[in-house]
Amino acid sequence: MIAIAIDGPAGAGKSTIARRAAAELGYIYVDTGALYRAVGLFMLQKGVAPSDSTAVCPLLEQVKIRLAFQNGEQKVYLGDRDVTGDIRTPEVSMAASDVSAIPEVRKFLFSLQQDLAKTNNVIMDGRDIGTVVLPDAQVKIFLTASPEERAERRYEELREKGEKVRFDEVLADLKKRDYNDSHRTVAPLVPAETAIVVDTTGMTLEQSIDKLMSIIEKKLNEN
Ligand code: DC
Repeated sequence: MIAIAIDGPAGAGKSTIARRAAAELGYIYVDTGALYRAVGLFMLQKGVAPSDSTAVCPLLEQVKIRLAFQNGEQKVYLGDRDVTGDIRTPEVSMAASDVSAIPEVRKFLFSLQQDLAKTNNVIMDGRDIGTVVLPDAQVKIFLTASPEERAERRYEELREKGEKVRFDEVLADLKKRDYNDSHRTVAPLVPAETAIVVDTTGMTLEQSIDKLMSIIEKKLNEN
């Protein structure tokens, strides 16, 4: 099986680019952030603070997450409920970042992610895919862009969905998540040693996709 790991901070364009690359290659695209988001959403629904590990851990056994792939699109289920849309709010973003700092949560989601890569060619995006989840991935990319540009993209995305958000709040949230995700003790966000770092600041989406596709094709040909 072939695995391509794409890691990087929030709003770097990982999901858009990885989805397109997966479609071109005929791989499945796995958005691992959605798993942390589903756990975050579950804790919010239970009225538990997502950063409170003593409250979160005992509830994990009740969390039933399932990913389904329909026409290349990833659907996320919590129990029988399709939560694909519900996990995309700013509140759930922060809850996901909070639960992701808890080692037991990372352990809980680990095998689910690895199993997908055992049975499928995957492009998997997240924060620790190249470093922890799929250390043997044939291609590892660390995708980044300036905080302002990433916040701008996230802001436009949320506005398009009709969310009433302010740019300065989106930027502050993103910087806080960057800090949380890079400073946690387990599996912090760092480029894998062999990752190719791609900074998409100032690039259009098409340019970023072209750049990534050429790196992927080159790497796969080397292997
Ligand atoms: O990629 P995203 O914004 O949907 O991720 C939401 C949060 O989940 C992010 O702030 C950190 C966490 N996460 C993680 O710790 N490890 C991953 N592989 C993916 C996401």
